[in-house]
Amino acid sequence: MKKEIPVSKANRLINDGPVLLVSLLYNHKPNIFTVAWNMPVSNQPLCVAIASGFKNYSTKGIKESCEFVINIPDQKLKEQVIGCGSASGRDIDKFQKFNLKALPSKTVHAPGIEECIGHLECIVSKSIDHIDHTIFIAKVVSAQVDEDKWDFQNNVWIPEKSLSLHHLGGKFFSVIQKIV
Ligand SMILES: Cc1cc2nc3c(=O)[nH]c(=O)nc-3n(C[C@H](O)[C@H](O)[C@H](O)COP(=O)(O)O)c2cc1C
Repeated sequence: MKKEIPVSKANRLINDGPVLLVSLLYNHKPNIFTVAWNMPVSNQPLCVAIASGFKNYSTKGIKESCEFVINIPDQKLKEQVIGCGSASGRDIDKFQKFNLKALPSKTVHAPGIEECIGHLECIVSKSIDHIDHTIFIAKVVSAQVDEDKWDFQNNVWIPEKSLSLHHLGGKFFSVIQKIV
């Protein structure tokens, strides 16, 4: 079950640098792309940054809609992470192709991805074109987690349950399994 957490703690969904499935709505159609290059960039309000290549269909979509949802996949979604990062929403419906279910968002029009373990709803506040990527800086307006994977007392992932994917390069990923 999904449970809301305070936005003030929501940077902790991505503090450990997981690979993301970013979802958006472009021309009334939902799309998803894989993003390894991401980070929190401010506290109050909480803002995050993602780098999206000029060639991505999603870059156009985010520039137009000014919204996206950061979804955190776990290791069960490795094939979808590779698939959504290899095909383009110009050509296919990735929700359908990779068997992913749209999760209605609380505050933005873009849907999240039901099968992911955490979600940050984001509104773009700044975009910077730099060489071959656009860096989107976005304010986090709502955050949810799968309640069995989050330690609500300390506001951190339970690493042995969350098992998010960390991109090493190519088709290689690692998972973090314990707190030290
Ligand atoms: C593991 C992985 C990580 C990726 N990380 C990024 C990234 O950080 N930024 C980016 O622009 N593209 C990244 N990509 C590539 C895009 O996800 C890919 O170009 C995608 O097909 C774009 O889809 P679109 O045309 O529907 O927007 C990554 C791909 C994979 C497989």
